[in-house]
Amino acid sequence: MRVNQILQGNTLDILKTIDSNIIDVCVTSPPYNKKEKNKGWLVKNVLYNAISDAKNEEEYQNEQVEILNEIFRITKPGGSFFYNHKVRWEKGEMIHPISWLSKSDWTMRQEIIWDRMIAANIRGWRFWQVDERIYWLHKPAGNKIGEELASRHALLTSIWRFPPERCVNHPAPFPMILPARAIFSVLDGKRGVVLDPYSGSGSTLVAAKLLGCDYLGIEISEDYNSMAEERIKNCENERATLLEELGKHFVSKTFKERKKNGENTGKFKQDKILGEKLSQTQTDLLATLKFMSSGKNLSKQIDKIVL
Ligand SMILES: C[S@@+](CC[C@H](N)C(=O)[O-])C[C@H]1O[C@@H](n2cnc3c(N)ncnc32)[C@H](O)[C@@H]1O
Repeated sequence: MRVNQILQGNTLDILKTIDSNIIDVCVTSPPYNKKEKNKGWLVKNVLYNAISDAKNEEEYQNEQVEILNEIFRITKPGGSFFYNHKVRWEKGEMIHPISWLSKSDWTMRQEIIWDRMIAANIRGWRFWQVDERIYWLHKPAGNKIGEELASRHALLTSIWRFPPERCVNHPAPFPMILPARAIFSVLDGKRGVVLDPYSGSGSTLVAAKLLGCDYLGIEISEDYNSMAEERIKNCENERATLLEELGKHFVSKTFKERKKNGENTGKFKQDKILGEKLSQTQTDLLATLKFMSSGKNLSKQIDKIVL
């Protein structure tokens, strides 16, 4: 399969044509089956321009399981899938993504809370729902535990706080830093092949390209594909946003160093770089940032921030 392209068509049909064991990381946000009904006072209904988001719920969940299993097949052993979804309610009944994720072939590695900090509906049927979920799914290469994350990524915790994307002309994009955090954390600066099977405006593909990875997108809408191609072509415009995110992936002391000194490892604490002698991890991060900031000017700015 040729990489660095967006395949236009129906996700499930296209996934079935892709070879097994070729993807390192997948990040996606599928259509949520929100039935296109009026869901709130503050946001417009999500209406995609090429396909309806209103299916019978059982049919929807069965199709998602089929898609999850196809993605499992084409992912390399040891690979990861970050699946963004949310808890929904239908006639007062809670519909939780774990009910269909647990029927798929994936090992569920973590449930991450995405704190969007804004509610779509401000009625009081429930406490305002400001969260979505990101399921970190894993294809075991041997045992189910998998490889340990480097300290600088793990320290970002299981609650990710990003506001929703507002600058992209798509009805339901996620912010580019969401897939960037996922990809950078599991690949730890290495190259790989990244898939987004519902690529929309191309947020995951832009993140992958800026991180030096190959990408593969699948999307049914021709218009969204043109939008994504344009964003990918101009992805350097989004590098500063990426660098801001990458700057959060640092620790002044690794797990091992903390353990050796008997220091508290359980509490999140923002480490400071300024004025401190650089640890090996920070030196590695700096090298990664410099490598990624292709322009000399950015490289000079990083020297200024850190030294
Ligand atoms: C939640 S949006 C993804 C947005 C994307 N994460 C971004 O940041 O722009 C879901 C996307 O899936 C596409 N889609 C829905 N059903 C599809 C299907 N059966 N096959 C391919 N694409 C589909 C929609 O057109 C929409 O762009």
